[in-house]
Amino acid sequence: MVELKKIISHCKEYGFIFPSSEIYDGLAATYDYGPFGVELKNNIKQSWWRSMVRENENIVGIDSAIFMHPSIWKASGHIDAFNDPLIDNKESKKRYRADVLIEDELEKYQQKINKEILKAKKRFGTAFNLSTFQTTHPRVVKYSNKITSISKRLSDSLEQDSLDELKNIIEELEIRCPVSGTTNWTDVRKFNLMFETKVGALANESSKLFLRPETAQGIFVNFLNVQKSARKKIPFGVAQIGKAFRNEIVARQFIFRMKEFEQMEMQFFVRPGEEIKWYNFWKESRMDWHKSLNLNFGNYRFHDHQNLAHYANAACDIEFEFPIGFKELEGIHSRTNYDLSQHQNFSKKRLSYFDPDQKESYIPYVVETSVGLDRLFLSILCGSFVEETVNNEQRIVLKIPPKLAPVSVAVLPLLKKEELTDKARDIFTNLKSTFSCHFEEKDSIGKRYRRQDAIGTPFCITVDHDTITDNQVTLRDRNTMQQERIPIIKLNKIIKERLDI
Ligand code: GAP
Repeated sequence: MVELKKIISHCKEYGFIFPSSEIYDGLAATYDYGPFGVELKNNIKQSWWRSMVRENENIVGIDSAIFMHPSIWKASGHIDAFNDPLIDNKESKKRYRADVLIEDELEKYQQKINKEILKAKKRFGTAFNLSTFQTTHPRVVKYSNKITSISKRLSDSLEQDSLDELKNIIEELEIRCPVSGTTNWTDVRKFNLMFETKVGALANESSKLFLRPETAQGIFVNFLNVQKSARKKIPFGVAQIGKAFRNEIVARQFIFRMKEFEQMEMQFFVRPGEEIKWYNFWKESRMDWHKSLNLNFGNYRFHDHQNLAHYANAACDIEFEFPIGFKELEGIHSRTNYDLSQHQNFSKKRLSYFDPDQKESYIPYVVETSVGLDRLFLSILCGSFVEETVNNEQRIVLKIPPKLAPVSVAVLPLLKKEELTDKARDIFTNLKSTFSCHFEEKDSIGKRYRRQDAIGTPFCITVDHDTITDNQVTLRDRNTMQQERIPIIKLNKIIKERLDI
């Protein structure tokens, strides 16, 4: 699997992602998307929007404001309960999330188990039986028991808000600070993740606003506006793509965890009692969507939550195998009628829905799907990054799903000669209204192919001397590197078919 540092430097070199404010030495956990990054990001957004909104008759979209009435965050529970447990190392003065330190330590035990399994597989060959090995090998059993018992204590302490217990676990596991290497820790403290800002000329309590930490609340408070104006009957959904802000103290791992990021969320409003049916529907449907991207090593799994948040009656994550291990990519939550009830109580406005089929009013239940756009972007980059040797030559190629690629077609005159560049320009002009196209005449053709591979361009069209007389070009496929002669007149149709658009 590709290392994260390779992805980071590739993103910088090829204009996908730059560290924000770089000439001022950067700003922690904040990144800017470059020319190819923004194209890929827009394509991912469009693909999600199409599959959610355009392809589902009963889902509509909105775009709500980032600033919202401060009472919303009291009602949603974010002011009181949107906290991270933090711990400082006294030597390095570095601050960490206590639960993340513990999870990372448990991952080390998991890696030890994986190593033992690999060793045994090699030793026993076809006679190897995984489940017997896992239940009898003393070291594997010891590590597994440790993972199970610590995971349980961790989730209990998070649920019960027991900061002392988190500290106990860190001490018991003798977790060391990755920077100082010592176990000299402070106590665990709570830290609210919302960013505050002020509006108006007077800086007092009443002028305090928060930058939204999730887009979902913009959907909840607009529930009746959308239902009435779009004339929707339950079950129906509301989707939104937008920025969210969290004061992540432990923001590392590139765009995996940022302070400013984008979410793509959908709240599906259902009849009370039908929420688990719909939860299971969305759980499978979202997993299918991720798998349809067909990434190279795209490994996904569900992580069902054992301890549920107070507002949820079922929840899971879709995890992706990032270079830093299996991590949450998307959350699917059955949020009961908690949010709408809270907003009804706090706003004193009725948020119930009259069901014409059942002839009764109720506050709908909600199933939420919530994916981080930036995390999805990272999963696509990691899953499509390939280093391979072809004809004794090393190449890096991004095997991005063709319909998401930042550039669909590169048009390349074989040489920088007027008759070739003119012909290539004509082709470029004809294709650019349909596809995202790139024209490049600088450098040798080999170098230009490599560059297009590195940004993930699925097709290159090369215009050579024969093109002038036979009106055919060479179409090169990014993945197979195969080249075929194609009449110019057929290019549009062939590329459309192969891009699957
Ligand atoms: N409305 C539900 C909600 O916000 P969440 O699990 O806190 O749930 C949903 O966030 C998704 O947003 C996550 O699965 C992740 O993909 C993304 N996300 C959350 N915090 C993030 C951060 N600091 N940086 C990047 N993406 C983040």
